[in-house]
Amino acid sequence: MCGIVGYVGSRSALDVVMAGLKRLEYRGYDSAGVAVPADGGLAAAKKAGKLLNLEKELTERPLPAGTTGIGHTRWATHGAPTDDNAHPHLDNAGRVAVVHNGIIENFAVLRAELAERGHELLSETDTEVVAHLLAEEFSVTADLAEAMRLVCRRLEGAFTLVAVHADEPGVVVGARRNSPLVVGVGEGEAFLASDVAAFIAHTRSAIELGQDQVVELRRDGVTVTGFDGSVADVRSYHVDWDAAAAEKGGHDYFMLKEIAEQPKAVADTLLGRVDASGALTLDEVRIPAAELREVDKVVIVACGTAFHAGLIAKYAVEHWARIPCEVEPASEFRYRDPILGSRSLVIAVSQSGETMDTLMALRHAREQGSKVLAICNTNGSTIPRESDAVLYTHAGPEVAVASTKAFLTQLVACYLVALYLAQVRGAKWADEIRAVVRDLARMPGEVERVLETMEPVRELARSLAGKDTVLFLGRHVGHPVALEGALKLKELAYMHAEGFAAGELKHGPIALVEEDLPVVVVVPSPRGRSVLHDKIVSNIQEIRARGARTIVIAEEGDETVAPYADHLVRVPVTPVLLQPLVATVPLQVFACELATARGNEVDQPRNLAKSVTVE
Ligand code: G6P
Repeated sequence: MCGIVGYVGSRSALDVVMAGLKRLEYRGYDSAGVAVPADGGLAAAKKAGKLLNLEKELTERPLPAGTTGIGHTRWATHGAPTDDNAHPHLDNAGRVAVVHNGIIENFAVLRAELAERGHELLSETDTEVVAHLLAEEFSVTADLAEAMRLVCRRLEGAFTLVAVHADEPGVVVGARRNSPLVVGVGEGEAFLASDVAAFIAHTRSAIELGQDQVVELRRDGVTVTGFDGSVADVRSYHVDWDAAAAEKGGHDYFMLKEIAEQPKAVADTLLGRVDASGALTLDEVRIPAAELREVDKVVIVACGTAFHAGLIAKYAVEHWARIPCEVEPASEFRYRDPILGSRSLVIAVSQSGETMDTLMALRHAREQGSKVLAICNTNGSTIPRESDAVLYTHAGPEVAVASTKAFLTQLVACYLVALYLAQVRGAKWADEIRAVVRDLARMPGEVERVLETMEPVRELARSLAGKDTVLFLGRHVGHPVALEGALKLKELAYMHAEGFAAGELKHGPIALVEEDLPVVVVVPSPRGRSVLHDKIVSNIQEIRARGARTIVIAEEGDETVAPYADHLVRVPVTPVLLQPLVATVPLQVFACELATARGNEVDQPRNLAKSVTVE
C-alpha cells in the first residue's frame, strides 16, 4: 500500500502532487509528505495523520514554488505513523528526497553499513537507507537515474521508489519491483503514480512499468531502463476511466456511490461474454480449451472480501463443472506446501491486482507448474500480468476501502468461469448454460430492486448503533454471504461481528446468544434444496427461543419464515446459486449505515488500507 505521486512539467508541482495524493489516500492515510526541488535546493514537508494535516502545514509554512515534485501518503509498516517516519526521506545534506511503497527486507544490513560510513539516520523506516544510498551514488555519477539503478541492485524485497535531487531539478526518477507504479504522459509534462487515478484528470495516456525497471521523467520525455541499464520496451495504453468516475458523484461517501453503482457494474461485467449462439466466449481467458478439459482440481486463492467471493465460487464450480474445488486465504496457501500440478487450475481473485499475499500465492502455483487465471478489476496490475490468463471485472474504480461493487462483479466473473469450465468439458448442456446466462442477465435489474427497498434496513441499522455484537448465519452459499456481512460490520462499524454456518451454531457459538442479541439470518430459497430451507427455519427457532432478535433475509413469497422474523428483509427470487448477488446488498447497506450512526469514517476505516502490498 502507500500512495506515491511524482510530477515534472510546467504547472505548480505542489498542486498536481497534492491533488494526486487526495485520489490515492485510500491506499493509506497514516501520514503524508511532499518534496520539491526549487531555488537550487530541496524543500520538503511531512505530517503524521491524514492529508488534511499536511495541507494545513503547507498553508502555515508554504514551500517555494517549483514545477517538479513528489508526494506520498503512508500506510505504516516499519516505524510508527509519526512526523519523523513520514515520507519523503532525505539524505543528511538534504539534497535528495525519496518516497517508497513496500518493504526493503535487507534494510538493517544497509543501515548498519551506512552508519559505519558516518551517515546519521533519523527515522525508524526501511526507506531512509535509500535516500542515503542514492546520495552516495549520485556523488559519483551525478545522474539520478543511474544512481537509482545502482541502489536498486542492492535492495531486497518489494518496492516502488520515486526520488528527486536538488542538482537535477527537472527530473523525477522512479523504480519498481513487486509493487505498483504507472507513468502518465502529457504534453510537455509527465506523471508517476501508484494508480492512474492520481493523474487521470491530466492525461489518459499511460505506460506500464515492468518488473525491475527504472523510469526517468523529464518535461520532454520518458526513458525506461532495466536495473542493469538496458533500454526497455515501452508499452503504453489508453486509460478508459474518466476523472468523474473517480469522484463521489453526489453521494456522501464513495462507498454509497459504489453500492449504488452495483447494477451497472454487474451488467458491465456480463457485457460481451456470450456469442450469437448463446455460448460463452471468454476472450481474455487464453488457456486452451484442451487444457481446461484436463483440469482435475480448481484452487481459488484470494484475501478479504475477494476470498468470500471465492468461497461462493466453489459451489458453482463443483455444481456446474463437477470439478473438485478448494478455496484458501492466499496468505496461508504457499506455507502449507499445497499439492499442485500441471492439471490444477489456480484462480486468483483480486480487485486491486496488487495484493501481495495473492501475488505470492499465484507465483507459488506457477512454480509448481499450475496454470493461473486471474479475476481482477485493475487493468495492467501485477496479478493479471503474472497470470496465464485473466478475466477482468468491469466494476470501474473502487475507492472506498470496504469492497462492495468489486465483490458483486467478482461473483459474476466466478460464475462465468464455472460455466465456461462446464461448457468446455461438456458438464452441462448448451441450453442449461444459456438458461443460467439468462438468469445472470436479469441480475442487474434485481440488484436495482433491492437498492430501491433499503430504507427499512437503514432505519434498523441506526436503531442498533448502541449494540456491541451482531451475529450472521447462513447455509450453502448463504454461509459466505454471512461471513461477508460480518466482515463489512467489523471493517466499518468496529463491532464484534461473526459469521457462522447456521448448522454449526449448535456446536458451540449458540452459547453467545442472549436476550436481544441481533442475529442476521440469510435464508436459502425454499424452491432449491428444500431441506436446507427447513433446517434454517429450525435454526432460527433455536436462537429465538434463547432471546435473539432475528433479522431475516428471505426471498419474496417465502412466507414460512415470516413468523420467526423480528425484522424481515425481502430479496428477489433468484436461482439458489445466484442468491448472493442480491442477499449481500442489504448487508452492505446495513454496515455502512451503522458505521455512519456510530460516527465512523466510512470510506477510510481505521487501521485498514484498500490495497495491501505487504505480506
Ligand atoms: C484489503 C481490503 C479488503 C480487500 C482485500 C483484498 O484487505 O481492505 O477490502 O477485500 O484487501 O483486496 P484485493 O484488491 O486483492 O481484492
